[in-house]
Amino acid sequence: MKTKIINISKIYTWNPDSSTVDIFKNHEILIENNKILSIDKSINEKCNVIDAENCVLTPGFIDSHTHPIFIGNRANEFNMRLNGKSYDDIKKMGGGILSSIKSLRNSSFDELFEYSLKNIKPFINFGTTTMEAKSGYGLSVKDEIKSLKVIQKINEELCLDIIPTFLGAHDIPKEYELKEYVDLICEEMIPQIAEQKLAVFCDVFCEEGYFNIKQSERILETSKKYNLKPRVHADEFNYFGASELAANIGALSADHLMVINDKGINALANSKTVATILPGTTFFLNKEKYANGRKLIDKGCTVALASDFNPGTCTIRSLSNIMFLAMQKCGLSLEESFLGVTYNAARSLQKEDSLGLIRKKYKADFILWNINNLEEIPYWFDSSNTKISKVVKNGKLQ
Ligand code: NIG
Ligand code: FE
Repeated sequence: MKTKIINISKIYTWNPDSSTVDIFKNHEILIENNKILSIDKSINEKCNVIDAENCVLTPGFIDSHTHPIFIGNRANEFNMRLNGKSYDDIKKMGGGILSSIKSLRNSSFDELFEYSLKNIKPFINFGTTTMEAKSGYGLSVKDEIKSLKVIQKINEELCLDIIPTFLGAHDIPKEYELKEYVDLICEEMIPQIAEQKLAVFCDVFCEEGYFNIKQSERILETSKKYNLKPRVHADEFNYFGASELAANIGALSADHLMVINDKGINALANSKTVATILPGTTFFLNKEKYANGRKLIDKGCTVALASDFNPGTCTIRSLSNIMFLAMQKCGLSLEESFLGVTYNAARSLQKEDSLGLIRKKYKADFILWNINNLEEIPYWFDSSNTKISKVVKNGKLQ
């Protein structure tokens, strides 16, 4: 059975052919089998009807970088930062990623599932219809597999699509020497996770005090052999060539880039690697220096935006808020930030042929907004969910 959406005031979509945002006024959308069949002034077919009640329609948002599989919170660290402690100081005091690891390891599969489900469910209210989700708070074979199985189960349970990333290389657990842990990742974790088809991507926190260039390269080259495509946490706190590694190794995305330099920018600009900026994290960590999105775009990089939702460095889920920060702090235009949470985010997930545009054959994932113009999306800071009238996922009203 087909469905049509009527009474849409304006459709906004990126147009990759003209590199502009297209606006279709008073058009209708016909949907069949979860996909857009046609977009026309008027569709004369007898079928199910969704009444948009004069709303603006955009593609559903795509969040290409999240860490939602955790239990508990780290609100105490927020307070410690305000009292002058850095992310690094907190790690040395036993907090940071390692404290989330402790709580995840102490939780059963069901407890982790319930908590993570609560972490993920609200994304849909902010218009996210597809998200990438990383493991990375287990850091043992058993707990990484538990985390990825939780993602699998939540993906089955919720309407939004969740694409799993293995992030065993998020930190070095206390019981291992670094070298031993890299061996464990390459020799046990990656083969088992690939064999069980639990992840699509493999990510590494390539950063001083975590995984250096050589170790990151070894992990990502191994993941490639097992058909897990590389992504990299790059140039977040210290520059040591992580974005160049991402470009050279053919990573789909290099993420953070707060401290990237010209060499790194050139490497990304001359590669297919998407430059993903995460301004919510910079804001949440109360750092001065945001990723220079303007420069990345001007130098020819493909720039996506994501939330980086996680218990330590960013609890923002709303991609409308991330658009706001990208415009206000990273120099992106309204159109570039809209592109960053739709089509360019899809590119970083290799979904650009089916997600991120309002176009024939694309997935029928939409947000219906109670607004008049595109600029109202970032403008209604913190209340984008109240401006979202309806979310349509796979052609169905949620
Ligand atoms: O992307 N940088 C590494 N990972 C997360 C932080 C994780 C944590 O602090 O729990 C990030 O910011
Ligand atoms: Fe991250």
